[in-house]
Amino acid sequence: MEQGLALHQVRVRFGGLTALDDVSLRVPATGVLGVIGPNGAGKTTLFNVVCGFVTPESGSLTLDGRPLRPRPHRLNRLGIARTLQGTGLFPGLTVLENVMTGATHTARAGFLSALFGLPRSDRDERRLRRHALAVLDELGIAGHADAAPATLPFAVRQRVALARALAARPRLLLLDEPAGGLGAEDIDDLAELVRGLPRRDPDPCAVLLVEHHMDLVMAVCDEVTVLDFGKVIASGTPEQIRDDPAVTDAYLGAAVDGSAT
Ligand SMILES: Nc1ncnc2c1ncn2[C@@H]1O[C@H](COP(=O)(O)OP(=O)(O)OP(=O)(O)O)[C@@H](O)[C@H]1O
Ligand SMILES: [Mg+2]
Repeated sequence: MEQGLALHQVRVRFGGLTALDDVSLRVPATGVLGVIGPNGAGKTTLFNVVCGFVTPESGSLTLDGRPLRPRPHRLNRLGIARTLQGTGLFPGLTVLENVMTGATHTARAGFLSALFGLPRSDRDERRLRRHALAVLDELGIAGHADAAPATLPFAVRQRVALARALAARPRLLLLDEPAGGLGAEDIDDLAELVRGLPRRDPDPCAVLLVEHHMDLVMAVCDEVTVLDFGKVIASGTPEQIRDDPAVTDAYLGAAVDGSAT
């Protein structure tokens, strides 16, 4: 049986524009797949298809060989978590509470009801709190547990968003442009973290990384798929991709058009 997430001939059109043109790819169950491509290539559209924000006109998705019809609010139950461009943290909650919200689907009485002062299970809340703290500790930011997100540097906030996603114990993590807004040193730290996720103990997690930042993709991915104008123009190991003239052409073409950043 085919393990992990796969897209089969996925097509998405916005009016006359084909944003994804029969795209097929596979995220190995124990690896990191990078999706790169110049501006407008279809990366975010692909991410949105996997999250269930965009429904393809044709094609299909499978998870471990079984048909997958993602819905944003059901992702966690399927073992899929995501971070979005920007951090999307709740400003009124502490770091720890933000991370706890990532795991609420595992709680019976519901941490959200607790937040709104409704009856709750103390045992559930203690368990969520312990788990959230452990994830913060794993990411090296437990010292910020009681801080308000707005008081923290961007790189730390971004790590909190990652902790919130990991608190759901996903088997697959979807990352959209996680290097955006980070300095070189923070990108190195992020690379190390992402590279370790497929061997995470006790919750190993495959990664689909949608990223403009070529260095990060080359540093962390086992496999890379390159999109250009909605089509897969290359896929392979980072070394194969780096040496592929079609990839260089796509990025150079974008640079010449002045549309690359
Ligand atoms: N909701 C939408 N309606 C109409 N066109 C859209 C929509 N979303 C994306 N597009 C178009 O689809 C194409 C692919 O866009 P997408 O955002 O997926 O590219 P991208 O690879 O993420 O680009 P970037 O590197 O700039 O983030 C672009 O031409 C874009 O203008
Ligand atoms: Mg995008």
